[in-house]
Amino acid sequence: MKIAVLPGDGIGPEIVTEAVKVLHALQLPFEMETAPVGGAAYAALGHPLPASTLKLAQDADAILFGAVGDWKYDTLARHLRPEQAILGLRKNLGLFANFRPAVCYPELVSASSLKPELVSGLDILIIRELTGDIYFGQPRGRRIATEGDYAGSEEAFDTMRYSRPEIERIAHVAFQAARKRSKRVTSVDKANVLETFQFWKDIVTEVGLQYPDVALDHMYVDNAAMQLVKAPKKFDVIVTGNMFGDILSDEASMLTGSIGMLPSASLNAAHKGLYEPSHGSAPDIAGQGIANPLATILSAAMMLRFSLNQEAAAQRIEAAVKKVLAQGLRTADIYSEGTTRVSTIDMGNAVVKAMR
Ligand code: NAI
Ligand code: MG
Repeated sequence: MKIAVLPGDGIGPEIVTEAVKVLHALQLPFEMETAPVGGAAYAALGHPLPASTLKLAQDADAILFGAVGDWKYDTLARHLRPEQAILGLRKNLGLFANFRPAVCYPELVSASSLKPELVSGLDILIIRELTGDIYFGQPRGRRIATEGDYAGSEEAFDTMRYSRPEIERIAHVAFQAARKRSKRVTSVDKANVLETFQFWKDIVTEVGLQYPDVALDHMYVDNAAMQLVKAPKKFDVIVTGNMFGDILSDEASMLTGSIGMLPSASLNAAHKGLYEPSHGSAPDIAGQGIANPLATILSAAMMLRFSLNQEAAAQRIEAAVKKVLAQGLRTADIYSEGTTRVSTIDMGNAVVKAMR
């Protein structure tokens, strides 16, 4: 089992170190190799995604990723910015399915933006299509309008598009994921206004016929945004396009307390995946030893489950995380009165100890 370890920038190296520590503690035959990515790679090798790092990622069975980005690279040309590394990895590895579970741990209910009764026991999974939609559709650009009321004015345009195979494959991913959970899929669209999303709805419905054991319903994105804060526990699996998924998954992350708790996976057709916390490189707290490593540790658990076929090991890690929370250990971002504040390293050590 080959794992490419890409720590990146900011708190990336600190939190990835703790996740690697937890993986080592499993005593499974992992081969882990580390390479620079993002701003760190630009500084060392002149490019945010050097060929050697991409090659390592391509040859590995899974990628454990920290985060990229730092203010000090803001003035670089777009193609050299740290964030290009993650886009390059998604594109090169065909990582089209983004999994973002939003789980509210009982101990952290009070940290949620919502009332306890709305989020206690929350466990939903957002599946976002990651390589299509208006973010990548062509043509796009700026021009002088030649028709309509604004002819002669400057305008900008993007193209929203999805092809049948792109929708089919993400729909299959969602139905298969739902089978392992509460067997409910909500497909989120804007079919009332957008042709792209009427097409999306039609195809998801069609694919759904192959999964008679999974209940499918459809919801407009504006309503879904509302329901996520009104009654989030009514959802099980949400599947949606790239842009709606971007927005809804950030909204859902706030239901759970801290972004420092949320893992994510981005998978391709071969179940190879890139696993990373949902948050960024947090340059404001980098180097202080206070970042929460749990999102990255839980991402490593997802890696074991989805790419390395090690379900038992994944559950061991998840159980250990629950245990340390129950023990009252908290990094600064999830600290509340009456709990024990610990550093990044102490939190990693506590998870290792709880696994024994
Ligand atoms: P961010 O997620 O890095 O930070 C937002 C806030 O959450 C900050 O106050 C930070 O201190 C806190 N935070 C984040 N992770 C935490 C953790 N594990 N423990 C405790 N507190 C945590 O988002 P921001 O500030 O918008 O972006 C910072 C940099 O990260 C930017 O360069 C951005 O482009 C990059 N970024 C990278 C991503 C990736 O690598 N996939 C994803 C999102 C942002
Ligand atoms: Mg986002």
